[in-house]
Amino acid sequence: PRRTPLTASNDSLAAARHLPQAIIIGVKKGGTRALLEYIRMHPQVRAPGSEMHFFDRHYERGIDWYRNQMPLTTPSQITIEKTPSYFVTRDVPRRLHAMNPHTKLIIVVRDPITRAISDYTQALSKGRSTRAFHDMAFYSNGTHRLLDTSWGALRIGLYAQHLEKWLRYFPARQLLFISGEDLIEDPAAQMDKVQDFLGLARVIQAGHFYFDQAKGFPCLRRPDSPVLTKCLGKSKGRRHPPIQPDVIAQLRDFYQPFNRKFYAMVGQDFHWL
Ligand code: A3P
Repeated sequence: PRRTPLTASNDSLAAARHLPQAIIIGVKKGGTRALLEYIRMHPQVRAPGSEMHFFDRHYERGIDWYRNQMPLTTPSQITIEKTPSYFVTRDVPRRLHAMNPHTKLIIVVRDPITRAISDYTQALSKGRSTRAFHDMAFYSNGTHRLLDTSWGALRIGLYAQHLEKWLRYFPARQLLFISGEDLIEDPAAQMDKVQDFLGLARVIQAGHFYFDQAKGFPCLRRPDSPVLTKCLGKSKGRRHPPIQPDVIAQLRDFYQPFNRKFYAMVGQDFHWL
């Protein structure tokens, strides 16, 4: 007869795949990969490595497919995934609510202007765009230079508009907003917020991070073996092309009322104005 190995803990015997209890839903280029890599160092957190795109691209594959993509978790662990396009995709709030109305939602937000430039820089590096930033951002009505808000890089930064759709389905207390700027400046302080929000012990602390001079960003280290370090890949923390000051100024004016509205909605000032 097959015997259960004596070394197996009750926990590992009960390992199974579960739908995520928490999802990082956005925003693209906000620092979502950094946040996921930080939180998944927590022993009580498991997460798939890649973006699932279930609620936007693969919804017809069904919920069992989605669950099967998830890693095995023990009863004391939670499952998290991140797909930044969820925040801005129309049907996602309703679909996600239908899966589980208690899902915790985490959104990393960043100054919409730097976010747009980061998005544009990524498109350039992937060969998806060759036009200058200002050519993408503006069009002329003959007399005035107008912003093309149908350009995804600009549209994604209208956080207040996207958030309105989520608040139709989820109470504000189920959403946690993390400043992408603060996540770079003081990752440990942001991880306190994330761990508290998820109901986890504050295991990820300052000792898990060091500022890597070469990378120019925080990188990870294991406090028990500090020589084991890890920075995010080359596609994270790219150098941005310079953008003309008048272009930035027009974007600043454009985003200001949306930013103000967003601050009021979430009761938090992100210092982008
Ligand atoms: P840039 O490459 O424009 O600097 P996302 O993972 O959501 O695509 O976000 C990418 C952004 O995360 C990067 O944009 C970078 O500014 C930010 N970021 C935050 N913490 C980082 C880290 N530890 N290493 C690299 N990039 C980080």
